[in-house]
Amino acid sequence: MNKVAVVGAGSMGRQIALHCAIKGLDVSLFDLSGEVLSGAKEFSEHYLASRVEKNRLTAGERDAAAMRLRFASSVEDCVNDATVVIEAIIEEFQPKAALFDRLGKLCPPSTILATNSSNIVASRLADVTLAPERVINLHFFNPVLVMDLVEVVLHSRVSPEVERNALEFCREIGRTSIVVRKEVPGFVVNRIYRALTREAMNLLEGGFATAEDIDLAVTRGLGHPMGPFHLMDAAGVDVSYLARLDEYQQTGDELAKPNAILEKLYREGRWGKKTGYGFFDYAEPDDHGEHA
Ligand SMILES: NC(=O)c1ccc[n+]([C@@H]2O[C@H](COP(=O)([O-])OP(=O)(O)OC[C@H]3O[C@@H](n4cnc5c(N)ncnc54)[C@H](O)[C@@H]3O)[C@@H](O)[C@H]2O)c1
Repeated sequence: MNKVAVVGAGSMGRQIALHCAIKGLDVSLFDLSGEVLSGAKEFSEHYLASRVEKNRLTAGERDAAAMRLRFASSVEDCVNDATVVIEAIIEEFQPKAALFDRLGKLCPPSTILATNSSNIVASRLADVTLAPERVINLHFFNPVLVMDLVEVVLHSRVSPEVERNALEFCREIGRTSIVVRKEVPGFVVNRIYRALTREAMNLLEGGFATAEDIDLAVTRGLGHPMGPFHLMDAAGVDVSYLARLDEYQQTGDELAKPNAILEKLYREGRWGKKTGYGFFDYAEPDDHGEHA
């Protein structure tokens, strides 16, 4: 049975940790910010209580999951005894590299060191870590408590044993995994998502159809649960724009270059549901029935 350490308790880390605890694994969670860590504890308590209310967990299962999830006081305390460490800190290379350098020294060579990064490939972090054969991407999807898939992304130095153990870990936590055999920006899911959204924006920019109709075409014609424009608004226009920009700057690939309309919305602060406006308008009408 694996013991899991999750470093970074933001939106992803707290859910990865909680999911593993619900699935019966011992987990410790750490964040540099005490406030974020307290927020993660509160989040876990609320989530577990709501699962009992909805009859998805018994009170006993709730208590057992809560007991298995420990909130650690330092990185050392968090990773002590872990067989799998999952890094879910901010999406910047330097802090991640510093953390992996430290993890490489703290954890025995048998411990899997995984990054949940969507864009930074593990081989870059393996370079700064002792025993690079155990450094991989384990890419979860948001919201982790709902989304079933984990991408297990390998590079040439990953050992067969680490690959096997990583897949076994995904089975233990009841998640479907796919293996991405070679590193590629965006892995599999985000590459397909970016191709779809890029083409949707090309059609919109060319005046071929409205955003509403393109979304309808994708939901009714391809059977997707949500159209690309509603999806970008829900995930955050800023997230889509910055991910595309980062890939473009890293690879120079013209296909990764953000569409003009995406850049315009980003610069105007129209970041989707979170700001009230994106490709669509979500702002509540004011007392006079007018939109802002
Ligand atoms: N948000 C998503 O939809 C999503 C999806 C898949 C993967 N990811 C990846 O997951 C990672 C985390 O994303 P997020 O959305 O949870 O970010 P977030 O900003 O919500 O959380 C990051 C947390 O890391 C903490 N932190 C920063 N440096 C730290 C350090 N050295 N040690 C410990 N904690 C530290 C911060 O205090 C913060 O709470 C990123 O690499 C991102 O690419 C995000």
